[in-house]
Amino acid sequence: MDTDAVAGMFEQVARLLKPYGDDFPRYARLPETGASREAILGAMERLKAIEQERWKQGLVSGTVYYRDQEHIDFLNRVYALNSSSNPLHPDIWPSTTKFEAEIVAMTAGLLGADRTQDEIVGTVTSGGTESLLLAMKTYRDWGRDTKGITAPEIVAPTTAHVAFDKAADLFGLRLVRVPVGPDFRADVAAMTAAMTPNTVALVGSAPPYPHGLVDPIEELSEVARERGLGFHTDACMGGFILPFAEKLGYSVPAFDFRLPGVTSVSADTHKYGYAAKGTSVLLYRGADLRRYQYFAATDWPGGIYFSPTLAGSRPGGLSAACWAALVSIGEAGYLAAAKRILETAAYIKTAIRANPELEVIGDPLFLIAFRAHGFSIYQLVQAMAERGWRLDGLLGPPAAHFCVTLAHTQPGVAERFSQDLRAAVEYVRQHPDASEGLGPLYGLGASVEMREVAQGMLFWCLDMLYQV
Ligand SMILES: Cc1ncc(COP(=O)(O)O)c(C=O)c1O
Repeated sequence: MDTDAVAGMFEQVARLLKPYGDDFPRYARLPETGASREAILGAMERLKAIEQERWKQGLVSGTVYYRDQEHIDFLNRVYALNSSSNPLHPDIWPSTTKFEAEIVAMTAGLLGADRTQDEIVGTVTSGGTESLLLAMKTYRDWGRDTKGITAPEIVAPTTAHVAFDKAADLFGLRLVRVPVGPDFRADVAAMTAAMTPNTVALVGSAPPYPHGLVDPIEELSEVARERGLGFHTDACMGGFILPFAEKLGYSVPAFDFRLPGVTSVSADTHKYGYAAKGTSVLLYRGADLRRYQYFAATDWPGGIYFSPTLAGSRPGGLSAACWAALVSIGEAGYLAAAKRILETAAYIKTAIRANPELEVIGDPLFLIAFRAHGFSIYQLVQAMAERGWRLDGLLGPPAAHFCVTLAHTQPGVAERFSQDLRAAVEYVRQHPDASEGLGPLYGLGASVEMREVAQGMLFWCLDMLYQV
């Protein structure tokens, strides 16, 4: 890639990350006297109006999983009532402790707790990433304690979420990534072969973020069980939609605690649980395993200290809002939401397949990846962006990704997607030099030599976020 192209890409990223220029008040230091609350609220309202337009119209893949304004207002009210609460102090906010215990119990009930003799326990975390980090820390400490493993390894398919790499980085684990099979699902034989005496746990996803195709969890968890290892199902995406898909008669492979080899499951309430951003649930088979996640200090000058997750103080308001989402929506509400999403996803898959140049990868239920033949898929992602859509780009293989949410079930959205997709395909076919947008950045990441350059660019993006 030439330097002009790199400079162009930096410019494009800068515009994306800092779009407002001087339109909004900007503070590089504390104002001498406080700004008025009205002025602040006015600016916030204007920002909200701009930013919610795209996702509320249903033009963004994933990201915000609900849309209904009454639901949003309700969550906001619940948060406001609990905004001071901090579950680090259960004596002051016992209500938050109750909410969290019930969130865990309700999630466990959804994920097979009543179909096993074992006790299923868990904790509320801040999101999918924290759930995965904590599960990996748990297996590291469990492996050391029960098996004497001091150089722990985790075996995961290449499609498992990148948070597993983050966990390896943070907790000194070795993550063994195993290529998926030709069907883009975890390859059981290859994962079995990748195990060593240092393996503490195996991982599968229901479904993985990239292609939305549930891994063969039953076979994988049996491999783990036969060897006395841990098995984590990452159901961050699927935990609150797959159980309802199954009830609706869709074919859903088993992935939860009904399988005796599954020893932990993560499920994100802030995705298809329709809670506000900032909560997920991490479940374990048995309280003994959960103990390895906990932290307690008895000899600190600051006093006795204990906390179940990564953070110390935590936003109890988010747990209250999560509890309120689960209880107010209920089984019937989740079932109805899943029905709408799955029917819309079926329509979208048909719309993609109607273009002979496009191929849906496998037959996903609600998280759809598709690739292009005859032109670059990143050109198509960009052509869709020019029509207002925010699809994500995938790397291996190059593909586009569309995570269907309630926002896409509004009348006319799927039809607009179908029409815009056809027009975008036509445009790219007729313009072989059409822009790939940020596609070249994806290309950089794909080559081993350029990975450092790509990482440098991403670090630059992070620096940019903190520039006033
Ligand atoms: C399968 C899967 N696991 C984990 C995560 C991480 O979730 P979060 O972004 O809430 O940390 C995601 C996010 O999309 C996911 O799709």
